[in-house]
Amino acid sequence: MARILIQFAHPALSKSQVHRVLIDYCRNQKNVTVNDLYESYPDMFIDVDREQKLVLQNDIILFQFPLYWYSSPAIIKQWFDLVLEHNWAYGSRGNALAGKKMGCIISCGGGPDTYLPTGRNHYPVDQFLLPFEQTARLCKMEYLPPFVVYGTFHITKEVIRQSGEQYQTILSALANDRLNALNYQEATYFNELLPDLQTVGQV
Ligand SMILES: Cc1cc2nc3c(=O)[nH]c(=O)nc-3n(C[C@H](O)[C@H](O)[C@H](O)COP(=O)(O)O)c2cc1C
Repeated sequence: MARILIQFAHPALSKSQVHRVLIDYCRNQKNVTVNDLYESYPDMFIDVDREQKLVLQNDIILFQFPLYWYSSPAIIKQWFDLVLEHNWAYGSRGNALAGKKMGCIISCGGGPDTYLPTGRNHYPVDQFLLPFEQTARLCKMEYLPPFVVYGTFHITKEVIRQSGEQYQTILSALANDRLNALNYQEATYFNELLPDLQTVGQV
C-alpha cells in the first residue's frame, strides 16, 4: 500500500465549514498521515528536519487548503521555500522526492462557472495551481490532477458531506494503487475520475 501524507493548511480552522469536515474524513484512513501545518507551526517557524523526514516516510504528498487570493495560504509557500532544499529536493544531487506523487485538494468560494474565460475569475482553477505542478516536475515527482470543491460560498451541508466521501474514495484509491486502472494522467481534475473510481473497487 502507498503511504499518504496530507499537508493541511487552514489559517482559520475555527471558521471553516468545508475543510473541517474534509479533514475528518481522512483522519482514520489507513496509511494516511495528517500534518496540520498551522497547528504545528502557529508562528510559521517550520521544522525543516521534521518535515523532510515526514516526506521521506511517504509516497504521496497531498496539499489540502482553501484557495485564498488565487493561491494557497501562506504557510504552504513557506513550506516550499524552506523544506524543498537545493540538492535535496531538486538540483543535480536532489533526488529525495523522485518518484513520489504530489497533488492538491482544494476548495474555492467561486462556482465552476466563475472559473471560465467568461466568468469572474477568468482562468480555470488548474491554472492557479501551476506552481504546484511545475514544482512537482522540478523535483521529479508525478503531479496528480487536483480535487476541487467548488462554490463554497453557497454550499450545503449535504454537498460538504458528499465531498468528504469523494475525498475518502480518492484516498483509498491512491493508497491501494487503484489509479492505474484509469487513464488518470489525462484528467484535468480528480473530480472527473470519481465515477470510474467508484466502480473499479471499493474501500
Ligand atoms: C482571505 C480569503 C481569500 C479568498 N480567496 C478566494 C479566491 O481567490 N477564490 C475563491 O474562489 N475563493 C476565495 N476565498 C473563499 C475560500 O476559498 C472559501 O471560503 C473556502 O474555500 C471555504 O473553505 P472553509 O469552509 O474550509 O473555510 C477566499 C477566502 C478568504 C477568507
